[in-house]
Amino acid sequence: MSPHGHPKAIAAIVGAGRTKFGELWYQNPEKLLFEAGLRCIESVDNGMSRRDIQACFFGSFLYQTTNKLGLIPGYMSRELGLNIPISMTEAACASGGAALFNACIAVQSGVYDTVLVGGFEKMTDRSDKMSDDLMFAADPKEFDAGFTFPGLYATMMSRYIYEYGSGDPRCPEALAMISSKNHRHAMGNEYAHFRREFSVEDVMGSTMVADPIRLLHCSPISDGASALIVTSPETAEKLTDTPVYVVASQQASDDVSLYTRESLTSIKTTKLTMTAALAQAGLGIGDIPLAEVHDCFTIEEAIFLEDAGFYEKGEAWKGVHESYESFKGSKHIPYVNGGGELIVNPGGGLKADGHPVGATGVRQAYECFKQLRGEAGSNQVDAPLDTALCHNIGGTGGIATVHILRRDV
Ligand code: COA
Repeated sequence: MSPHGHPKAIAAIVGAGRTKFGELWYQNPEKLLFEAGLRCIESVDNGMSRRDIQACFFGSFLYQTTNKLGLIPGYMSRELGLNIPISMTEAACASGGAALFNACIAVQSGVYDTVLVGGFEKMTDRSDKMSDDLMFAADPKEFDAGFTFPGLYATMMSRYIYEYGSGDPRCPEALAMISSKNHRHAMGNEYAHFRREFSVEDVMGSTMVADPIRLLHCSPISDGASALIVTSPETAEKLTDTPVYVVASQQASDDVSLYTRESLTSIKTTKLTMTAALAQAGLGIGDIPLAEVHDCFTIEEAIFLEDAGFYEKGEAWKGVHESYESFKGSKHIPYVNGGGELIVNPGGGLKADGHPVGATGVRQAYECFKQLRGEAGSNQVDAPLDTALCHNIGGTGGIATVHILRRDV
């Protein structure tokens, strides 16, 4: 047990389901969400019926734009054959994390006992307009100035290299290693958008998108859906012998604009949610062996490692470089700092598993649930796991959610 305290369950996850992520031309968004939800319900060990679901919380960012759909609760009521409350959350790329956050509040308050949480996005239906559409999650002034999301994160990456790795070729190499690692991690993930390895040289030689961000630093444009059954801890213990407990659920917000931020190399909402989540769980960062991190661009994974306190400010790239060099070739490549080890994005992260934006936050919890129960198949991490963390960001940090999951409390 951590010297910091004793985690207490605020909710539990008893089932998880997802679709493949990728270019799913043949599917409608509501069908994808229903497919993930159905797999999720069917995965509950002791069985449950869709009639046991008392409320739903679904996250999506762009469905009204991509598919000219509205009122997803109406579509899902039809698919599920239920007339229960269904609430939608829109928080850009953190829409899924926000749905899970709201579900945890609903269960923790005692209003609902069993809820279905889902996230979905159908981005490839508007591939040609997607770079512009994603800019709904940025300041219109940034859009007018010609920025895209790769451009915004390129600004953060340039500043990071300038401040902490200027003139040292290992710094940009480390930011490419994050991509190589995550692509390697996705090799055992049957649902991943890309199951293909790329070397550090491949990443550094890939097509320039927004200097210094290249194609293989970016998460892709993906379709997909993911779902969870969240219950009270008491109900969970009736539905399965191996529930996964939620011991922290936090959300924070900040100015949508990147240009008004205090820092271009740190995300305040990550710091706030991480500090609050660790305090809520009574854990320290050294107690977390596995994290699903929002690597929309590889620089964001490095910034997380510093904002979360795993490495000192400006030191993550050195830690990434040393860890990659020590462990390349192994199934999962952990980050090492002193005696601590942290496996980040064991299923490939946003980079390789894919990033259908509204689905991502829920998919992260799916991955942690499977890993904690030892059900991640050929992608199961070898290290023993008791705790896992999910970190989901919207925009350039205008919102973040963090959830900490445990096998035991
Ligand atoms: N990583 C790896 N490969 C990718 C890729 C990615 N991110 N994006 C596309 N590819 C591959 C495609 O599979 C395709 O491969 P193929 O030729 O073997 O079939 C090839 O690259 C070209 O694909 P295409 O769809 O034409 O790429 P694109 O130039 O239209 O889009 C990006 C590439 C990087 C611009 C796009 O993926 C993107 O905008 N990503 C960022 C998404 C984003 O901002 N999300 C929000 C985060 S906050």
